[in-house]
Amino acid sequence: MTTTITNIEDLRQLAQKRVPRMFYDYADSGSWTESTYRANESDFQKIKLRQRVAVNMEGRSTATKMIGVDVAMPVAIAPTGLTGMQHADGEILAAKAAEKFGIPFTLSTMSICSIEDIAAHTQAPFWFQLYVMKDRAFIERLIDRAKAARCGALVLTLDLQILGQRHKDLKNGLSAPPKMTLANLINLASKPRWCLGMAGTKRRQFGNIVGHVSGVENMGSLSEWTAKQFDPALNWGDVEWIKKRWGGKLILKGIQDVEDAKLAVASGADALIVSNHGGRQLDGAESSINSLPAIVAAVGSQIEVHMDGGVRSGQDVLKAVALGAKGTYIGRAFLYGLGAMGEAGVTKALQIIHKELDLTMAFCGRTQIAQVDRSILLPGTFPGA
Ligand code: GLV
Repeated sequence: MTTTITNIEDLRQLAQKRVPRMFYDYADSGSWTESTYRANESDFQKIKLRQRVAVNMEGRSTATKMIGVDVAMPVAIAPTGLTGMQHADGEILAAKAAEKFGIPFTLSTMSICSIEDIAAHTQAPFWFQLYVMKDRAFIERLIDRAKAARCGALVLTLDLQILGQRHKDLKNGLSAPPKMTLANLINLASKPRWCLGMAGTKRRQFGNIVGHVSGVENMGSLSEWTAKQFDPALNWGDVEWIKKRWGGKLILKGIQDVEDAKLAVASGADALIVSNHGGRQLDGAESSINSLPAIVAAVGSQIEVHMDGGVRSGQDVLKAVALGAKGTYIGRAFLYGLGAMGEAGVTKALQIIHKELDLTMAFCGRTQIAQVDRSILLPGTFPGA
C-alpha cells in the first residue's frame, strides 16, 4: 500500500522506488557539486508571501496565455531527455496528461518516443525542443518533421552544446536502453513494473534519431554519434537560420544573462526561457528565480519572459509570475509523477501544482493571474532587478 500522494515530494519518493537507478539519477542530477541545482529550489523558499484577508475569493482562475496560447495555468511541461526511460512510452503519456489538463507539452530532441509518436497520440499542438547538431541536414529534417506534426512552437536550447559533468551518470554508465551489466540486472530485478512496461513497448531508443540518420543503427553507434554531434560552434547566426527555416513561434531556452537576453530580443524570438538547465550545465551559476528579475527589467517589455529551474510547487509558479515570468516549465516535477504512476502520475503532479497555485493566489488576495505582481511578495525577501 502506498501512502496518499499530496505533494510532489511524495511522487519523487515513489519514482525513486519504481524507476531503475540510472534513469532516476539522470533526472535527479545536477552538474559537479549540484550547488545551482539546489539553489534553484532553495532560493524560491527565501521569498516570502504577503497574506491578505477579507478579499472576495470567488470566481478564481489560474488561466492565462503563453506565447498567445491559452493555458489552464502558467506552466508547461519542460523538454527532458530520455523521458521514455522513466516509464514505458513516457513522452506519449506525459503529452496526453498535459493535453487533458490544458497546458503545453514540450518534446525533447533526445526523447525516446518520436515527434510522429506524439502527433499520433494527441490533438493539441505540442512544442518541440531542438538541439543544434553539426549535421545540419539532420536539423533541417527535424524542423521539417516538427512542422509536419504541426508543433505550436520550436524551443531552441542554447546552453547544451557541451555537456556539464554529472557524476552519477558517469558512474552509472547511463545509456538507453540500459546495458545488461550485472549491476544493472540486479537493480532491474527490483523494478518489476518498469520492466513489464518496457517489455510491452518497442520504444526503447532515441526515437527522433534512430532510423533518421544513416550509420546510427545500434546503441554503440548512437552514443558515439550524439557525443560527436552537438555543435560547439553554435552562434546567433544559426539562430537566425533556424528561425527562418522554422517560420513559426520561436522560444529561446537557456538565457541567464541580461546581455544574452538583449541578443534574444534582437533575434526576433517570441519568448526566452530564463534557465540554467535545471542546474545540469554550469554549476555555480545563479539560480533561475534570482536571475529572472533583472532579465524581466531589461527586456520584459520587448519579449515574453519564461523561466524554469526549481519549480516544485504552485507556490513557486506564483512567485515566478510575481517576478515577471509569463510562464514556467516543470521538468523533474512531472518526471517524478511519470516514474511513480505513468500518465496518472503526471496528471497528479499537474493537479497538485494547480491546487497549490490557486490557493496561494487566493491567500495573497488575488483571483486572477493578471493581478499577480511583486506586490504579493514581502519586501526585502525577493531578488531585485
Ligand atoms: C539534456 O537535456 C540533459 O540535461 O541531460
